[in-house]
Amino acid sequence: MRNIIIAGNWKMNKDLNEVEKFCSALALHASTHSEERVWLIVAPAFPFLKLSSQLLEGQPVGIAAQDVSAYPNGAYTGEVSAPMLRSLGLEYCIIGHSERRQYHCETNQSVRDKQLILRKNDIIPILCIGETLEQRDNGQTESVLLEQLDGCFEGVELSRGDELILAYEPVWAIGTGRTASPQQAQEAHAMIRAWFRQKYGETVANNIHILYGGSVKPDNIGELLSQPDLDGGLIGGASLQLDSWEAMVETAVKIMETRI
Ligand code: 13P
Repeated sequence: MRNIIIAGNWKMNKDLNEVEKFCSALALHASTHSEERVWLIVAPAFPFLKLSSQLLEGQPVGIAAQDVSAYPNGAYTGEVSAPMLRSLGLEYCIIGHSERRQYHCETNQSVRDKQLILRKNDIIPILCIGETLEQRDNGQTESVLLEQLDGCFEGVELSRGDELILAYEPVWAIGTGRTASPQQAQEAHAMIRAWFRQKYGETVANNIHILYGGSVKPDNIGELLSQPDLDGGLIGGASLQLDSWEAMVETAVKIMETRI
């Protein structure tokens, strides 16, 4: 059975003091929750990755970077490589986020390259896909998601399904307060899982975690996580405040406890 993953993408938020405060509080909270099948991940900005891992050391909270270079090293000013992230002991890295696709020319091809270099460095990619509002309104959701999957996994091997985490983030639901309905999210997740089943077989399809992202909040996370193909959330805004983070984790713990 798959676990539930609650991942906070802090994006370009929180300075040094805020990260310090938040992670110290998070460490206290994380140590009190004992449901091992709810995995917690936070993704601070690059400068605070090391500090966050130090403050959360020994706690059941994984740390993710928000992006990585597709290249291993060299003259790429401003970039951060997978070996650098590895040297920090990082476990996860978000790639292909729609904000990077939109503002930083990220393509399915570069997401594929980033996936490969992360895995080579034993870092688990959290690979994001999702359609825009225009694409949804034009009835293109399925074809867009399938095209993103085909591109991001071209020539890529998967054998177990725990080599990476997939995140479905409809662009129209990110930061807009407009969440996909649980049914809309489930429909997309089931389609994505079916794609993995067809390409990689039953084991990968059953094991891969597919997270939903887009205006997840304490008051909608329960219904979303009750859908059979939703294995957690990739959460922006609501992961920035401790009270809403704790409320979402507590809901996830309750839901996990009801699963056999
Ligand atoms: P919001 O939860 O703020 O909509 O952001 C979602 C997201 O982009 C997570 O990666």
